[in-house]
Order: sequence, then C-alpha cells, then structure tokens
Amino acid sequence: MRDFYPDDMAVRNGIFEAWAEAARRFGFEHYDACVVESLELLKRKGGEEIQDQIYWFKDKSDRELALRAEMTPTLARMIVARQNELTFPIKWFTIAQCFRYERMTRGRKREHYQWNMDIVGEPSVMAEAEVVMAAIEALRKLGLGSDEVRVHVNSRAVLSDILAKLGIPREHHAATFLALDKRGKITDEEIGVLLRNEGLTQQSIDATFKVLGLTSLEAVIELLGQRTPALDHFLAFFDIMKLYDAGDVVKFDISVIRGLGYYTGIVFEGFDAGRSLRAIFGGGRYDNLLGDLGGKPMTAVGLGFGDVVIAELLAERGKIPHLEGRRDLAVSFMEEAQRDTAIRVAKAMRAGGANVDLALHPEKPKHFFGRTGKAGFGRGIYIGPDDLAKGSIRVKNLADRTEQEIALQTLGN
Ligand code: HAM
Repeated sequence: MRDFYPDDMAVRNGIFEAWAEAARRFGFEHYDACVVESLELLKRKGGEEIQDQIYWFKDKSDRELALRAEMTPTLARMIVARQNELTFPIKWFTIAQCFRYERMTRGRKREHYQWNMDIVGEPSVMAEAEVVMAAIEALRKLGLGSDEVRVHVNSRAVLSDILAKLGIPREHHAATFLALDKRGKITDEEIGVLLRNEGLTQQSIDATFKVLGLTSLEAVIELLGQRTPALDHFLAFFDIMKLYDAGDVVKFDISVIRGLGYYTGIVFEGFDAGRSLRAIFGGGRYDNLLGDLGGKPMTAVGLGFGDVVIAELLAERGKIPHLEGRRDLAVSFMEEAQRDTAIRVAKAMRAGGANVDLALHPEKPKHFFGRTGKAGFGRGIYIGPDDLAKGSIRVKNLADRTEQEIALQTLGN
C-alpha cells in the first residue's frame, strides 16, 4: 500500500481534478461513503476473483467487516436505502479508495483510488454513452487525445442471445461469462473444465469458444440471424459515439467480458492505443444488483477508473500532471528586524489570493534563492534592511528573474 509524499500527492491531485471536472462537466453529482463495509454486503456468489481478495476482519463486537474492494455494492446499498425518496435516473460520482489482496503486478496494487460514475434508473443506451464519454473527457483533460486511447466494447446481453441460439440455457450464462473472462489467465482446457462443471456439453463448449473468435459486428449480426433488443441497444451505442465524434475511439471486442458477476448488458474497458498496459477503466450495465441486494429491481450503468494504470501511462508519455505553479510565492527575510514586515507582506499577499510560503526564520539570500529554485516556486520576495529603508519590496519572478517593485504602504497593516 502506498504512501503519498508531496510530489506523489501533486500527481494524484492532478488526476483527481481531471476526474472530478469531467464528472461535473457531464452532470454527475458527488457522493461518498465509509471505506469499511459489512462483509456480508460484499460477499456474492463464487467465480469472481474479487471475492477472494477482500481484506476483512472482526471488530470488538464480533461483527464481520471489510475494506471495500470496489464501490458498486456500497452505491447499491445507499440507493436501496433511499429508493423511495430519490428521483431517478440519478447520476453520481465518487473517488473511492479500494483495497484488494491482489498479486502485485504492473498496474495492480493492494490499494488504489477508483473514480466511479454511475447512472441508476435509466434503461436507455444514452446512459452507457454518457459514462464512456465522461471517461474520454477525463483522459483528454489529462492530455491523452482520442488517438491515444481505445474503448473496447462488448455486450453480455448480445453474447447471451448468441449462447441461447447455440442452445445453452440462460441460467448457465452468468457462470459462462465468468469462466470465459479467465481466458489468458488460465488455459482453455481449464476453462473447459469450469464450463463442464457448470453443465455445458462438450459441443456447447466448442461452440462457445468459436463465438470468441468473432471479430466484427457484421459477423455477430450474421450469426444471430435476426435483430434482437440487445443487438439494437448495442448498435445504438456505436451510433451515439459517432455523434460525439468518438466513433474511432470505440471498438467492438468480443473478448471483453469482465470479471464481475453483476454485469448484464454492454461492458467496456479503456486501454492505451498500443495496449501496452492493463485496462485504464472498466464498467458496464448491471440490471440485477439493486434487486439482488433487496431493493426494487432497477437498471444501472457505471464504470471504475483507477489511479494506478493512468499514472503509469502518463509517466510513460511524459504527461504527468504539471507540478509547476503548485508552489506560488515564497516570502523570506534576512534578519529578525525584517520579520514583522515579512509577516505583513505575507498577510497582504495571502489576502490577495496568492499561496504564500513564509520563512519561519531569517536566512541568507543565497540560501533563499537556492531552496526556492529547487522547490519550484514561481515568485519570491526576499526582504533585507535596504528594502525597509526604501519602504518597498521586490517581487521576483524566479523563472525569468524580472522584478516588480511594490511600496510597503500599499500593503496595509
Ligand atoms: P474493475 O474492473 O474491477 O471494476 O476495476 C475498475 C478499475 O479500477 C480498473 O480498470 C483499474 O483501473 C482499477 N483497479 C482495479 N483493481 C485495481 C488494483 N488492484 N490496483 C490498481 N487499480 C485497480 C470495478 O471495480 C467496478 N465496480 C466498476 C463499476 C462501477 N462498474 C459499474 N460501476
């Protein structure tokens, strides 16, 4: 788990700001919750990797509690608690710290921050489009244009229609998805065993693997042989993305299935265009979670966008959010005799809106200019006895060394 020193914190803040600004630009409202949840809420049926990764403990009253591994169950709990009062559809966002006991690999840590945006109570494909576009907007704010990222999109609902057409009963589909999501992590033979245990025949398993070889929407349409509501919903998504000039950013990819059990419709994952890193974000439509948690059934769409992969990608591209300007103005003085003037200057500058770091003790000019240069301050005011005698101070631009003189009497008391 990570410590954030000031330099790390500046990067983190840059990412968080881009997330929050993009969410607000798309009309999402901010919410939050406690990182500790009841273990019961987070426990779902097997097959999900995340279930084995939960950090949990018993408190002094013997209650089983857990650090959240993702925000979605908490969001569902919060909505179910006020389902009668809230006006739907709701559009909410949060930046939540999440904990997973994962094997540490590139882009995966035991703790991460995850930006979540969810739209609850909206069946239209507009919901998927808004969530995905807001994520693309955040990437743009971070300096990653539409040629640098790709959103790979699939639909579990369309896959379901295909599996049904192949004769696989719908009750096996959820488990089939979770097994297929393990592709690349375990062998196809092992996936075959999982599917056989689920009750699929060898013929169905072979057919299922063949489906994963489909590479175009045309091939999907041909295989289905007819338009289904799920297919129409899916195709409409791509049409809306074109209206947003993001037609080239989204890409049909049948291998995107996702490892969480609750998705029921469109699922998507964002990647760097060269696909050198893991997914930047992921999400989709989940129609059953609210009902499963004891609420009224209600459709929902959302995504999670972590801080780890994006920070790696930005570092790789030399686009780490700018640290300069972080430290604005340094004020210092040569001797105790100028201390009170330095306080007066800092007070006036702070009142005027500047972020001022006031020296805590006298220092030599060489020391002042050395440390402020190293720390990346934009401007400096160094006060010596001569300044007091003249009744003015000089604000030095530390980058281009230009100076601006200000009369002390204009600064107030
Ligand atoms: P997820 O795909 O498990 O989805 O996680 C979403 C994103 O969180 C990933 O794409 C990645 O950026 C980040 N992430 C996940 N695990 C780690 C980790 N161990 N270390 C670093 N980053 C990580 C969900 O969690 C869903 N609840 C998202 C969602 C919200 N679906 C609907 N609403």
